[in-house]
This record gives sequence, C-alpha cells and structure tokens, in this order.
Amino acid sequence: MAVESKTQSRSAALETATAAAGGSEPTARRTVGDVSVPNPVMTCRQVNVHYGDKHAIRDVSLDVAHNEVIAMIGPSGCGKSTLLRCLNRLNDTIPTAVVTGTITLDGQDIYERRQDVVQLRARVGMVFQKPNPFPKSVYENVAYGPRIHGLAADRTELDEIVQTSLQRAGLWEEVKDRLDQPGTALSGGQQQRLCIARTIAVGPEVILMDEPCSALDPIATARIEDLIDELRQNYAICIVTHSMQQAARVSQRTAYFHLGDLIEVGSTDMIFTNPKHRLTEGYITGRFG
Ligand SMILES: Nc1ncnc2c1ncn2[C@@H]1O[C@H](COP(=O)(O)OP(=O)(O)OP(=O)(O)O)[C@@H](O)[C@H]1O
Ligand SMILES: [Mg+2]
Repeated sequence: MAVESKTQSRSAALETATAAAGGSEPTARRTVGDVSVPNPVMTCRQVNVHYGDKHAIRDVSLDVAHNEVIAMIGPSGCGKSTLLRCLNRLNDTIPTAVVTGTITLDGQDIYERRQDVVQLRARVGMVFQKPNPFPKSVYENVAYGPRIHGLAADRTELDEIVQTSLQRAGLWEEVKDRLDQPGTALSGGQQQRLCIARTIAVGPEVILMDEPCSALDPIATARIEDLIDELRQNYAICIVTHSMQQAARVSQRTAYFHLGDLIEVGSTDMIFTNPKHRLTEGYITGRFG
C-alpha cells in the first residue's frame, strides 16, 4: 500500500513536470527511442536503484556501444550519477543503495557473485567531477593500477605503460620531465588528464565520466573534449554533463533522464534538433530543469 502511494505521487510529479513543459503526455513509462544497439559492450535492463525509501532510478534499460560517446543529461537529482555508478558497481560502497535489474559487460552479468569487483572497475573505469589524483608522484599515479593488477613483468614494461597512458591522455609532453613530482602539483586540467591516464593504464573497455569538466576552465575543458573524441577510437565512453553544448560537441548518442526515468534516447543530433518527448524538448530549450 505504501509502495502504491509512493508510485502515485511520483507519477503525479512526472505529470506536473510534463504539463509544465507544455505537454500532455501521460507519465513516461517507456523510453522514447531505441535503447538497444548492435553488439553492445554494456547493457542495462530494467535497472532500479533505491537508497532506502528513495527510488532513484526506475526501470532503466540502455545499451552502451563500442567506440561511442553517450551523453547522459537531465535535471539535477534525476539519477545520472546513480546510473553511472551502477555500471562499475560503485553503488556497492553506499550501504543504503539497492540495485536490481541486469547489467552486463561483454555479455556477463556484472552483479554475479563470482564477479571480481576490483577487476570490473579496471574494465569499467571512472573519472570524477573533481580531479582526484593520489597523493603520489605523477608516475606512481599511473603505475599504481598496472602494478596491483600485475600488468607489467618488469620496470621497463611499467615505464612503457605509464608513457603510453600519459600520451593517450594528452599529458605526456607536459609531464615527461616531472614524473617524480606530486600529481597534486599539476593544474586542474592536467590533474584531470592524469586521472584519465590512470584510468586508461589498466586497459579499460568503458570509461565513465561524471561531469569531468565542471571544475575546469574553458581551455582545459576544450582539451578534455578533444581527448574524449580521440579516446572514442579505443573505448566506449559514458559522460554525464550539465552542459548541453558539451553533450552536443562530444557525443554521438544522448540519453535524457527525468526524476529517475530514462525519458528518451537517440542520436545526439536528433535529441538536440528534433526531440520526440516534450520533457526532453522542455529541458533542451531551457524551459525547465
Ligand atoms: N547516497 C545517497 N543516499 C540517498 N539518496 C541519494 C544518494 N545519492 C543520490 N541520492 C538521491 O538519488 C537521486 C539521484 O541522485 P543522483 O546523484 O544520481 O542525481 P544526478 O542526476 O547525478 O544529479 P546532479 O546532476 O545534481 O549530480 C537524488 O534524489 C538524490 O538525492
Ligand atoms: Mg550527479
């Protein structure tokens, strides 16, 4: 009974928001657009997340494709970070979080009991809003992961991984003569690229980015955006952003969330020029959100 009344009040909230956006659709139970892609690297099906009584994500189904940047957008609190954290089981670290549904990586259920979570987080890396280098040298920031995962046979191999990762992250030229200096001594934009290098160093398939540029100036942001475009050649990238310009610049597909529902997903061009759902349209035209 309590569950029913919660569902009703939630539906009412969604209807109010739809009306505020100028629309008349009933509540969005089904996502508009095709949530699946051919040969996905990750799939989410009917994913729900509760934090105690709070139903933060509801029945979300979405695929992530190889060599693609997918942008996740929507008003604050709609569940973007929550969904991102589901993809590498970071919600495991939140005691009240309960995740249901199915999430796969290369066809394997990542919530299976035999799944090694440390291994999973190497394959599905995360870059956070605020750059968070370890209090170690630039070199050690990148070498740490490969070392604990046993990816290098000797120091020469480790050096190679560190150099390649820093090159891919577009940071090598700026730090090659200061590898022994603390990572925290770099500029904010450099620190964020260091965190990207650290993620790349363990050979991920998917990189999750939660508002990776929101603490950066426009020049550093442009560098990271260029980098995201290059990284797409080797990885699948899911980026959460509040900047619609950024979503339009870096992504090929966009997913719009509202109050825990995935309202609409489609090509970024289509979402920004011809959204099908009025909630999406309301958000991208700035009428609410
Ligand atoms: N650890 C937590 N405990 C309880 N509730 C939480 C927790 N984390 C998130 N929530 C709630 O879940 C909902 C979704 O939060 P989430 O952080 O995923 O939103 P978001 O879309 O990333 O928002 P923002 O754009 O502000 O970062 C919100 O209502 C939030 O208050
Ligand atoms: Mg968030």
